[in-house]
Amino acid sequence: MTTIDGEGASNAPSYRRLTVKTVRDETDEARSFGLASEVGDAGLYNYRPGQFLTFRIPHDEGLIARSYSLSSAPCADPEMTVCVKRVINGRGSNWFNDHLRVGARIEATPPAGRFVMQEGDAPMFLFAGGSGITPCISLIKQALIETKRRVKLVYVNQNASSIIYREPLQRLERRFSDRFICEHWLDDREGLIEAPDIATAAEGWASANAYICGPGSLMDMAEETLSHVLGPEATILMERFVSPDDSSSEEITSHEPIASEPIEIENFRLTLDGNEFVVPIVGGQTLLDAALAAGIDAPCSCVEGHCGTCMALLREGDVSMASQKALSKRNIKRGCVLACQSTPSSSAPIWIDFDL
Ligand code: FES
Repeated sequence: MTTIDGEGASNAPSYRRLTVKTVRDETDEARSFGLASEVGDAGLYNYRPGQFLTFRIPHDEGLIARSYSLSSAPCADPEMTVCVKRVINGRGSNWFNDHLRVGARIEATPPAGRFVMQEGDAPMFLFAGGSGITPCISLIKQALIETKRRVKLVYVNQNASSIIYREPLQRLERRFSDRFICEHWLDDREGLIEAPDIATAAEGWASANAYICGPGSLMDMAEETLSHVLGPEATILMERFVSPDDSSSEEITSHEPIASEPIEIENFRLTLDGNEFVVPIVGGQTLLDAALAAGIDAPCSCVEGHCGTCMALLREGDVSMASQKALSKRNIKRGCVLACQSTPSSSAPIWIDFDL
């Protein structure tokens, strides 16, 4: 256990400039943006398939942070690429599609995220909806090109014209026909997908790790279904992004009522990469702020509750969360919190575990 007494250098993610190298229409509503870092920053932008970038968008209403997944994979693509699909009233997604042109510059944090291929050689069952294909296709490329794993993708869209990366998926199907299955589910053809349909699609994949990304309600249904089909010990990874744009119909919920006064706590302990730390925390500070201020390289990206990177298991103590929307129901049930949204809600010692 390491006890940290004073403030260290903050490891809060810093924004660097990227240049847009390519822009490509994927559907009427989604575009891919190929990006390059500045000379000297390249090492900062090494990434793992499935990760994302958080962008600082100079919107008319002020700077806003939005996280978008990388669809590229280092083993297959020369360029770091994100895909952004328009969302109705989505300030970030519409700004990207309306303003970002080849040659433009935009600020982004280095890649982050834990929606990455798990160790071992388990088959992969991916469930994607709409633009949720973005991190999934990155993982699929890695799995097929760099490993011998079997891979199945179930990809849900409203209709054929809303399928993103249709041709790249077809090419992968042809090239890896012996171990890649891509099943499209189109609402206008088959109706809305339901839990039994997902269970049927997952038959024969009981030993697989599952990866889910898409609209929130679809993800919740897929998570619940796959946890039954694959068993309670199954590894199920979810990539869930929320923003003020697409969540306006949801209520803001809190783990606990938010304390009106900053609370001093006796002890703040955290586990990260198998190491234990005890760090100072002052009243009103979030758990993430306290960890970063102590110089601990805690996982984070947006620091606004959108991306879920700072998720940790609350092993002891009481916290209030300003927002928990980036957490799945399953992870809320497990006792997970977002460190960037959590402040102490009692003076009891707190212990959070980033190793989950
Ligand atoms: S850093 Fe993105 S949700 Fe906390």
